[in-house]
Amino acid sequence: MASAAYDLPVVEGTEPHRSAIDAFRIAIAQQITKTFPNVPIEKAYEGVDYSKKDSDFTVALPRFKMGGKPAELGAKFKQEFTPNEYIDSVEASGAFLTFKCNTKTLAQKILCQIDDLTNRNASGKPEYGHSDVGKGKKLILEYSSPNIAKEFHVGHLRSTIIGAFLSNLYKTCGWEVVSLNYLGDWGKQFGLIAVGYDKYGDEAEMERDPIKHLYNVYVKINKDLKEEKGEVEKKDFKAVAAAPADAAAAETKPEEEEEENEAAESGVDAAARAYFKRMESGDEASLVNWRKWRQHSIQAYEKQYETLNVHFDEYLGESMVSHEQQLKVVDQLEKMGLVSDAKGAKLIDLEKWKLGKAILLKKDGTTMYLTRDIIGAMERWEKYKFDKMIYVVASQQDLHVAQFFKVLDLMGLDWASRLEHINFGMVLGMSTRKGTAVFLNQIIKESADVMMEQMQKNEEKFAQIEDPEHVAKEIGLTAIKIQDMQAKRINNYTFNWGRMTSFEGDTGPYLQYAHVRLSSIERKNPELASSLPPLSSLDFGLLDEPKARDIIFHLGQYPDAVRTALKTREPSGIITYAMRLSHYISSAWDVLLVKGESDVDKAKARMWLFLLAREVLAASMRLLSLTPLERM
Ligand code: ARG
Repeated sequence: MASAAYDLPVVEGTEPHRSAIDAFRIAIAQQITKTFPNVPIEKAYEGVDYSKKDSDFTVALPRFKMGGKPAELGAKFKQEFTPNEYIDSVEASGAFLTFKCNTKTLAQKILCQIDDLTNRNASGKPEYGHSDVGKGKKLILEYSSPNIAKEFHVGHLRSTIIGAFLSNLYKTCGWEVVSLNYLGDWGKQFGLIAVGYDKYGDEAEMERDPIKHLYNVYVKINKDLKEEKGEVEKKDFKAVAAAPADAAAAETKPEEEEEENEAAESGVDAAARAYFKRMESGDEASLVNWRKWRQHSIQAYEKQYETLNVHFDEYLGESMVSHEQQLKVVDQLEKMGLVSDAKGAKLIDLEKWKLGKAILLKKDGTTMYLTRDIIGAMERWEKYKFDKMIYVVASQQDLHVAQFFKVLDLMGLDWASRLEHINFGMVLGMSTRKGTAVFLNQIIKESADVMMEQMQKNEEKFAQIEDPEHVAKEIGLTAIKIQDMQAKRINNYTFNWGRMTSFEGDTGPYLQYAHVRLSSIERKNPELASSLPPLSSLDFGLLDEPKARDIIFHLGQYPDAVRTALKTREPSGIITYAMRLSHYISSAWDVLLVKGESDVDKAKARMWLFLLAREVLAASMRLLSLTPLERM
């Protein structure tokens, strides 16, 4: 049982009751402090790293700065080393030590811990990989945040996928997480859509498909606006939307500010400004349609989130940020000497911090995206008193986010240091397979179709799948999500149908397949499965093949992978972990036979190994917001 780990010394910051690997590192650290009493155990522990090859752990003695000749230090350690339950042997090459763990203890401690924290857990929920580091802390996590009356574009999709991962990650590490969706439901664009609606709106169309109709209205009025400004097709900033054929879908907030400089006196632009001004001053008549759009959009988005397996605690919106408060704070900033007048508009100068200049209030007194974010953050602080607040927003908005963080800081709000921007790069070239522009639901539908075609190729297996539509959709979503999270967040990536939906290589379908294969082992060996002994009574010496050891040692590293992800906030590390686990398992099938193994005890031990490997693979997949499948 895992409790044997507890005769080891307690080391601050470790959790051997949640991560058995910690116990092995502590066992090494303990021996280091025995030989070198001047090294504190915490320091010794920090010095224990995973080995690259041939051994399990490595310690570079020079990092402890004890003085003395490296070769003598290493030799002294090796001489005084005594093997124990955890560590079998040490090799010294100069002052570099490499350790090999006891294979049987590894198997016993790691597998029992997974079983305890998965199948025998007091909470009834699997908790292997969880930790308490965030206990008592509150995270406000804003992500997704699409704009109403427009399409949910792929920039929002990335924010949603990464945000859902972060939400799971922080919860796994003991944080309380409140997830917010901050809808883009305010600003001059809504004046523009209103003007467009007066011109092109059609009640019957609106009834039939509100989102599509609003989108069409928006596209038309935008075209009018562009013609008016004499720019036919401006394709600059638009990549955030992964280049839908129509650039209008790609519009993001910061453009609002650019436009301010070239404010027109009449025409569509002026009408849109006037309309928004009426909205912002609370004129009921101008808000009626807007309310309808908002409601329809939220309904449509909620459906999409359901499909994506994503849930929010609260829907906020730019429209909900107090208008009065915005005016007050601009006043305050003016008194602080940070704001100047630019042809009637209020401008904040952040040049000193290399953050440019930005408009806070337009000359007609209406507010800006930036102003709403400043006050929005203050309102959230009042409401939640968070330990941390994260904004998951595309890197195109790096400047915008840095600006409002800086303003809050300049206002002397000490909680401003608790804000964090988690950014990400662009998705390039997302289109349907035929190459036309797309909306998210089309992409989801298409990837499900591809998977359905694949599944139908094997008639026998296909017949056994209970709900093929559901399964096809889940594999399709897995394909999309894995492609999205596979590289470092900040990298752009090119949307690639062929690669994403392939069952070969490190893809989403490959990962689902690995889980399905592990899930089939009980179905294929019903007798063994029904006569498995309790894990604690297993002879762990039966799992001594190198292939079994590789799997076990990697299973033991899952809690570390989670902790590292919490530091980097990169989902890619978890994907690498899950892929590697799948590789170890797939290369073991032909060696660690279950069905063809004549030694029944050995077959049972291996079955246990595969069942627990499935639990860990499933845990890593759920962390990535995937739904592990049983059949496909
Ligand atoms: N709605 C914005 C857009 O689509 C994203 C909002 C990001 N969050 C924020 N607090 N500014 O570009």
